[in-house]
Amino acid sequence: MKALAFLCILFATTLKVKPLLHLSLSSSSSSSSSSPTSPQRSDDPQHQQSYDFYSQSCPLAEQIVRQSTQFLFATDARTAPQLLRLLFHDCFVQGCDGSVLLEENIEGGRTERDAIPNQTLKGFDKIDFIKDLLEEACPGIVSCADVLVLAAREGVVLTGGPFYPVFTGRKDSTRSYYETAVEEIPSPNHNVSTTLMRFASKGFSPRETVSLLGAHNVGSIDCDFIKNRILNFSGTGLPDPSIPTDFLIELATNCSDTSGSRLVSDSTSTTTTNTAIPYYQALSPLLASGNTFGTHYYGALLRGRGLLFSDQQLMYDRKTTKLVEAYASDDGFTFKRDFARVMMKLSSLSGSVVSDQGSPRLQCSRLN
Ligand code: HEM
Repeated sequence: MKALAFLCILFATTLKVKPLLHLSLSSSSSSSSSSPTSPQRSDDPQHQQSYDFYSQSCPLAEQIVRQSTQFLFATDARTAPQLLRLLFHDCFVQGCDGSVLLEENIEGGRTERDAIPNQTLKGFDKIDFIKDLLEEACPGIVSCADVLVLAAREGVVLTGGPFYPVFTGRKDSTRSYYETAVEEIPSPNHNVSTTLMRFASKGFSPRETVSLLGAHNVGSIDCDFIKNRILNFSGTGLPDPSIPTDFLIELATNCSDTSGSRLVSDSTSTTTTNTAIPYYQALSPLLASGNTFGTHYYGALLRGRGLLFSDQQLMYDRKTTKLVEAYASDDGFTFKRDFARVMMKLSSLSGSVVSDQGSPRLQCSRLN
């Protein structure tokens, strides 16, 4: 009902079109994708994806996603980084198929959400909210995989990042890949060569990997991911020797269990927390606050101020160091251009198991 009310307000006030529920919308979406004028994904014909895939079957789909993401972002700016991370974890495991959203699996087994790297994912409720709106407007048409791709793109734009075009028409997965998620999602404890290998296995070059990791210029990171670097690096009982002393003190202060009164502000949110460090503040304490999607992530790495071990590792390979230096010295144009391109590539990853691809799920967390 909440979703329906939101939808009515959305369309009554902004779009000035007749109520969506009164529109007669065809439930056969596939015909729209075969228009000779709409570009098709040439590399993956089975998916029959195209720009504006829903132009006939659910003409307002992209607008609904855009406006509802804007609404969610206005309510909680953490929405944008949450959706961006969610997209990465979806697309990296058997392609962008919405499988990370599932709370149940085909044989009742564990799901991707149970895998350790996914246990800290957030933003599922936001995808559900957007999907509910789409189901009110055009039942059974828009896939959860597309919702995530479109909403994440919107989130990037809302934080000041680049717009990039994405195909739509993805199929939703009919299963969740727990083991693959455990095996393939990179770890914050990986060194640079393992990180590069993980990304190379999905077709990303070192340059693309470094630009993709620039996503870490927005959002926050829980102290749980930093504590070992401060207290017991690689079981030595000592801090990570690569952390500069002033930064180590900052990290220790912000992540101290007794720091209840030391609340830190998320760069993209007015919400405060004492267990998470915002990338923006921790990495660039001298910058004025703001929501700007920029190159501060790379500038911070140059100064040894990467929050995650895997982030800072980019400075331990000649090729990636050069790329970090290039992005850090730029006014942001090159990074944003590269980031837009690599996000298109990430959003286009597809899985190898075609038999696991089905029609749009009605609820993103449940199998139809
Ligand atoms: C080596 C690869 C990567 C590793 C090891 C990694 C690891 C992590 C970890 C541990 C966090 C903190 C989560 C938490 O505190 O709950 C995080 C946050 C985040 N990651 Fe990554 N990540 C990687 C690559 C990426 C990529 C490629 C993207 C997107 C394209 C991405 C987007 C994000 C975002 C936006 C956040 C902030 C989430 C929030 O504020 O809710 N990450 N990442």
